[in-house]
Amino acid sequence: MEWTPEQHELADLELLLSGAFEPLTGFLGHDDLHAVHERGTLADGTPWPAPVALHLPSDLDVAPGDEVTLLDPEGLPLATLTVTAREPDGLVSGPVQALGTPEHGPFARLRRTPAEVKEELGGRPALAVTMRGPLDDLTEVVATAKELDAVVLLLPLAYGEAGPAVVRAALRAKEQLPEGTLVVPVPLAPRDEPEIDLELREHVATTYGATEHLAGPDPVRIPGPPHRRGLVVFFTGLSGSGKSTIARGLRDALLELGTRTVTYLDGDVVRHLLSKGLTFSKADRDLNIRRIGFVAAEAARHGGLAVCAPIAPYAATRAEVREMVESLGGDFLLVHVATPLEECERRDRKGLYAKARAGLIPEFTGISDPYEEPDDADLVIDTTHISIEAAVSRVLDTLRSGGWVR
Ligand code: ADX
Repeated sequence: MEWTPEQHELADLELLLSGAFEPLTGFLGHDDLHAVHERGTLADGTPWPAPVALHLPSDLDVAPGDEVTLLDPEGLPLATLTVTAREPDGLVSGPVQALGTPEHGPFARLRRTPAEVKEELGGRPALAVTMRGPLDDLTEVVATAKELDAVVLLLPLAYGEAGPAVVRAALRAKEQLPEGTLVVPVPLAPRDEPEIDLELREHVATTYGATEHLAGPDPVRIPGPPHRRGLVVFFTGLSGSGKSTIARGLRDALLELGTRTVTYLDGDVVRHLLSKGLTFSKADRDLNIRRIGFVAAEAARHGGLAVCAPIAPYAATRAEVREMVESLGGDFLLVHVATPLEECERRDRKGLYAKARAGLIPEFTGISDPYEEPDDADLVIDTTHISIEAAVSRVLDTLRSGGWVR
């Protein structure tokens, strides 16, 4: 059996395998997690600050004694998990064993196991500094290292999107620190509770041989100005509501202004290539919207502006796309083109409503398939009584007043 864990679970896996989570040798089970939560120890009383858990889908058929090969997102086998227990909610516990896949990713060559770092330290006192952002002021680090006569060990906690930037910050800081300063990236995913996060950082630093630990300041994230931030304008609405026409008008207006790069992902257009072959079943519609969301989020991640115009009938899937875009640092604007069904059907520009009523098109949105009205739209436009130009202007005005276009 094979499984690709989530990003934060993979980060924990790497630390389990490198020995950085010593004394843990695998993912924790229910009793240990309960004890960690209640008392900050494992079930047997060993101090341990934070949950280290793995979830498999609850419909995946695994039982105690089974071996699960854990894969990275590209499908490379990383480790074998020997299942000791599984809970109905999908939680699985058990020891993990490395499969010897070479590490890759940015700055992989700088990674070292705690054992390797300890050997290099050779018993000298070490001042570890765990970092999630740049160290603007090195005075305290320099003074403490001097006072303790310690080697400085910079541990950039390189996790997720911001990972490489944290390592670069550590390499920059090293330039201004005493000769012999070490930089070792550690893929430690942040924990929600600041105290638990700090305890875990302390624990990991000690495992790397630190005799003293300083926690670097939390990064201050100053978002760029809106006209430089990525933006996804996501139109949703019934077939024939006018969303494609407004989206096209918006795209053209943006191209005329020329201040932003535009990626255009209209529903019908997407179904010619990106989503070719997909049907209109719920599963395929969701997949279609996820694909659109993935591409739009990528464009936004690079500071681009994506205009999407699928029906996107399901609220949960639209919310997923919003989450995807925002987690990559882009902004998301939901425009509900709320032209009522009667009006869409009266216009019936493609003749599809007539066919749907005649039973010739099954699962037709609004007729024989659901459309969940958004309750989180940033803009609602009913085109019954307004022109396309006016509708496009309303969207452009929103983009101008939000500072996304100038
Ligand atoms: S979505 O539900 O997956 O978001 P999408 O926007 O890609 O739909 O495609 C909708 C377009 O496909 C409509 O504008 C219409 O032209 C066409 N279409 C064909 N069959 C259906 C159907 N059963 N329901 C809705 N639209 C359909």
